[in-house]
Amino acid sequence: MSKTFYVTTPIYYVNAEPHLGHAYTTIIADFLARFHRLDGYQVYYLTGTDEHGEKIYQAAQAAGMEPQAFVDQISERFKAAWQQLDISHDYFVRTTEARHQQVVRQVLQQVYAQGDIYKADYAGLYCVGCERFLTEKELADGKCPIHQTLPEERREENYFFKMDQYRAWLTEYIQAHPDFIRPEGYRNEVLGMLRESIGDLSISRLKSRVPWGIPLPWDEAHVTYVWFDALLNYVSALDYPTGDHYARFWPAARHLIGKDILKAHAVFWPTMLKAAGLPLYQHLNVGGYLMGADGHKMSKSLGNVVDPFALAQQYGPDAVRYFVLRELPYGQDGAVGVQGLIERFNADLANDLGNLVARARALLLRHLDGVVPQPLPTQAEQVVAQAGQALIEKVRPLVQKLRIYAAIEEVLQFVRSLNRYFNDQQPWKLAKDPAQQERLGTVLSTVVEGLRLASVLLEPAIPRKVRQLRQSLGLKEEYTMAEAAWGLPHPGTPLPAEAPILFPKIEAETPAAPAASPVPALPAKPPIYIDDFGKVELRVALVKAAEKIPKADKLLKLTLDLGGQERTVVSGIAQWYQPEDLPGRKVVVVANLQPVKLRGILSEGMILTGVDPQGNLTLVGLDQDLASGSEVR
Ligand code: MSP
Repeated sequence: MSKTFYVTTPIYYVNAEPHLGHAYTTIIADFLARFHRLDGYQVYYLTGTDEHGEKIYQAAQAAGMEPQAFVDQISERFKAAWQQLDISHDYFVRTTEARHQQVVRQVLQQVYAQGDIYKADYAGLYCVGCERFLTEKELADGKCPIHQTLPEERREENYFFKMDQYRAWLTEYIQAHPDFIRPEGYRNEVLGMLRESIGDLSISRLKSRVPWGIPLPWDEAHVTYVWFDALLNYVSALDYPTGDHYARFWPAARHLIGKDILKAHAVFWPTMLKAAGLPLYQHLNVGGYLMGADGHKMSKSLGNVVDPFALAQQYGPDAVRYFVLRELPYGQDGAVGVQGLIERFNADLANDLGNLVARARALLLRHLDGVVPQPLPTQAEQVVAQAGQALIEKVRPLVQKLRIYAAIEEVLQFVRSLNRYFNDQQPWKLAKDPAQQERLGTVLSTVVEGLRLASVLLEPAIPRKVRQLRQSLGLKEEYTMAEAAWGLPHPGTPLPAEAPILFPKIEAETPAAPAASPVPALPAKPPIYIDDFGKVELRVALVKAAEKIPKADKLLKLTLDLGGQERTVVSGIAQWYQPEDLPGRKVVVVANLQPVKLRGILSEGMILTGVDPQGNLTLVGLDQDLASGSEVR
């Protein structure tokens, strides 16, 4: 049987322009779709827009437009945003399209006919932002915790779906399928919701009050509640119930959502599927929020949104894609801003990857007529080859667990090791020695092969730039994951004499970045008086223990002894030091630094490190051993 992969994003409400918070999930889904396509899967990637309901109706009224014209317009904006970010969805679903409306009516009719829908009076607290009734327990100080608004008291005659009858079944299902909802924290949250009655779900609104929706097939005075309508997009877009796509892809469904719509996807949707007699989706993957620079969830109502159009226009789609993929561990919240994008781009793409491509190209063109020769590997090349060969097996399981940031970091670690190999072999020196031409060829072709391999694994993240990289190195345009194996012969195409700089360094907006030189010019900072320096208290410290900090891939937590006084210091050295390498070492600490909380840990100082031109850190040590606590001046 062929491997299939069906990935979906939430369908976005068309009451607002697309912002980076929406782009986040869409880019993650795109990475997964592209990765699996390259890895030999038949992939279906679905995104789209959610176009019915009260919220949209109100937004259309506020814009002074007919609802259909309004949703047509905003839906186009989402399509354009995804095009600009090179999103490779297979279909863009809209809940106003006829095929979808037909499926909604069909499922409603079926569930109604089997007696799972009844009519009743209902009174409750409704949040228009969430488009659902909230329970007292969900409120914070009487307000909706997501929208910070007071819910409205509503009493009306609605149709109800008998959702609560599926509670025990759903609990058992989730317990029996540990991977159904990920990460685990959200699974536990859902099991918590299911411990008490979940009530029945109101699935209709009086048309006289909310005219913008799909009429119920048996009672035209009511329209379908927007969530009962929207969730069915995941199967209507596959031509449920009879379509080939439905048969092929629904068994492989993976939903990606933000945590604010957990209940709808983890409780409403599985019970709806059960009632309609459909099998459940495979996985629900729950992501955190992109926060604005103000530390709040990026959202239109809070006015702290970053516009993905503007970012992509200024820095290119791949810079935006790379940033959101690499910056945040999926499932956690994280603040994002333009400064972070620039730093990430410069460090990883311009310095680590782009520079190496440029350096290899320059030597190949100057000394080998732009032709990549067959390598004659020695021990040093075998080490690089082994690391390259092992990469796909490290990356694939990380991608499967949605640890995309860690998967990308694995590839970047490999690129950094290629840089070290390049620097160690000093091909620029080999080039000057006529007896070393063969060796020069081996070093350069090893670097090109390493870059090719990295390009395969980075393609899902930065597809456009990867094409450019391959072209500039005379490689094929396309490779599959099967070709992420070491030792594919170079196609032999000579390198083009001219190629644009792959990742031109972005100058920081404020303050101006220092001139790009391998070691920062000295002095890089304004002079200070000795008294100023005297304010810094430096001490020798003994590392007693070191450990990784969960979900912070750059940080280590160090326990230090400063001569009988114990300190905790959080240090950003995890990329260069393993925790087990550190106990017993002496380091130099800034001992009077104001303590700060980093990832919930109080860090009481800072250890000193040296930095090489690639930004790699190395601990500052002592020429002779000194007792811990000794002064450094
Ligand atoms: N229309 C519903 C989803 C229906 S799915 C059958 C909806 N739309 S939404 O436009 O309000 O939000 C869509 C998704 O975007 C949600 O998963 C939400 O979490 C996500 N995000 C909106 N702002 C976000 C951030 N700032 N950060 C991360 N995701 C964000 O809910």
